[in-house]
Amino acid sequence: MIDIGDKKFSLFIEEEKVLAAVKTIAEQLNRDFKGKPLLFVSVLNGSFMFTADLLKNINLNNAEVEFVKTSSYEGVSSAGNVDQLIGLNRSLTGRNVVILEDIVDTGNTLDRIYKLVQQQNPDKIKVATLFMKPDVYKKNIRLDYVGMEIENKFIVGYGLDYNGWGRNLKDVYQLKE
Ligand code: IMP
Ligand code: MG
Repeated sequence: MIDIGDKKFSLFIEEEKVLAAVKTIAEQLNRDFKGKPLLFVSVLNGSFMFTADLLKNINLNNAEVEFVKTSSYEGVSSAGNVDQLIGLNRSLTGRNVVILEDIVDTGNTLDRIYKLVQQQNPDKIKVATLFMKPDVYKKNIRLDYVGMEIENKFIVGYGLDYNGWGRNLKDVYQLKE
């Protein structure tokens, strides 16, 4: 059990299991994009650790990465609306784009990012997310690569935060109700 801010969290998924899920996604991408150029669009802040570990396991020669930013969470429940996409310095037109998310909850954030990416007419858009909550996901965007499906409880660690804290934790913790 650990304290983060005013909340208590208990160990949920150990680093080893998280890394195994990341590796599985990397293997699928290596297979699906063999011989093709690929541009990762990593959604900060939450995806930084996932992106780093994923890219270490990508063995494609023509892979690039861009980091973008948006946010939809205040505290432990989704705020429902998200900011503008910022930080994209590269044209996506005609590219194979893989959006990298740490977690898909309601899907509002992903929906917004997906539309902004789509506006630039990429050739293909795929979505990779480390975690997803199937009970609350309410969008129709296909999640092509999913590390782990989890129950609808708030988690921190491995890049994910509670009010900015806990991103540094290497294991994943779950909010104790
Ligand atoms: P959505 O827009 O509801 O899908 O929420 C997506 C964003 O909210 C993610 O990119 C995270 O930054 C954040 N988020 C959603 N669920 C959690 C969680 O359980 N812990 C920490 N952050 C979360
Ligand atoms: Mg995020």
